[in-house]
Amino acid sequence: MNAIEINNVSKNFGDTLAVNDVSLKIPQGTIYGLLGPNGAGKSTIMKMLSTLITPTSGDIKIFNHDIKKNKKEIKKMISLVSDYTVLEEDLTPEENLKMFAIISGLKKEKYENKIKKLIEDFGLNIYKQKLTKHLSSGNKQKLNIARALVKSPKILLLDEPTNAIDVETSKFIREYIINENTLSNVTVLISSHYIWEIEQISSNIAVILNGKIAINEKTEKIYKEFDKIINMYEFKSDDVQKLKNIIDKLKNDKNIINIRNISKNKIIIESKEKILFDNDKKDISTKKINPNLEDIYSYIVKNS
Ligand SMILES: Nc1ncnc2c1ncn2[C@@H]1O[C@H](COP(=O)(O)OP(=O)(O)O)[C@@H](O)[C@H]1O
Ligand SMILES: [Mg+2]
Repeated sequence: MNAIEINNVSKNFGDTLAVNDVSLKIPQGTIYGLLGPNGAGKSTIMKMLSTLITPTSGDIKIFNHDIKKNKKEIKKMISLVSDYTVLEEDLTPEENLKMFAIISGLKKEKYENKIKKLIEDFGLNIYKQKLTKHLSSGNKQKLNIARALVKSPKILLLDEPTNAIDVETSKFIREYIINENTLSNVTVLISSHYIWEIEQISSNIAVILNGKIAINEKTEKIYKEFDKIINMYEFKSDDVQKLKNIIDKLKNDKNIINIRNISKNKIIIESKEKILFDNDKKDISTKKINPNLEDIYSYIVKNS
């Protein structure tokens, strides 16, 4: 079953076409990564899914409910975390969660234990008496995620959840989300411009560029496909001078798109065509390597 179905959705802001004919199916229980540069349309998609704004054209279905017709039902199922969802600064973390539970229409017996658990899980119990405005930005973000989970949503939308958040907290957030996904089968759509973050967490990845989906595949399939398309090779040698000579030679080769110095003893090159190496060369080893998601992302950006 699809948790989210986006069919030919476009969104205009005046003359700006922020989202351009996007279609996306997100099966229940997946962690779906939405990758794209600033201004690509990620937040606009998130806002449409959480019913904050309506599409200019196309339709969106959440567990088969039309988003235009069943706004109330859909709001119960979806939680959004983003920097435009704000916490009440003059309430304690617990009060913030309580307020959100009440706004969401939850009954006391449903939210009381849940809030206790979330406060505990997110290590916020030591800040019980503190007002939210006195929390660090990392703890505020934990509270934001906790708030989104209070109503046990079926779908969790995370719009750049670790942007400007410290490394430890980011790691905690990612691990918590993977855990939630495993335990409660919550469907997660996470946007980021950190490629490695999306790589770590997502089973499927959609890349969005200028409002359009450039690629949308299972993560493993993306690797497999681009392994055939992108020709990357590694040169290794303890003889630094020999490596330098190779670099000089390759610099003038029109077939070579990119040369990267990984270390003193290692370079990685990307070529337009496949290269067959004579592996009998002394002192230098060469091999074909698999592109990582960053290589693949750069390739997609350059070629679309
Ligand atoms: N409320 C708005 N009014 C006008 N333009 C907007 C508005 N929201 C977004 N945009 C424009 O739509 C495009 C996509 O923005 P956004 O969805 O925020 O991208 P992302 O989240 O990927 O950085 C950008 O060109 C942005 O300037
Ligand atoms: Mg954004």
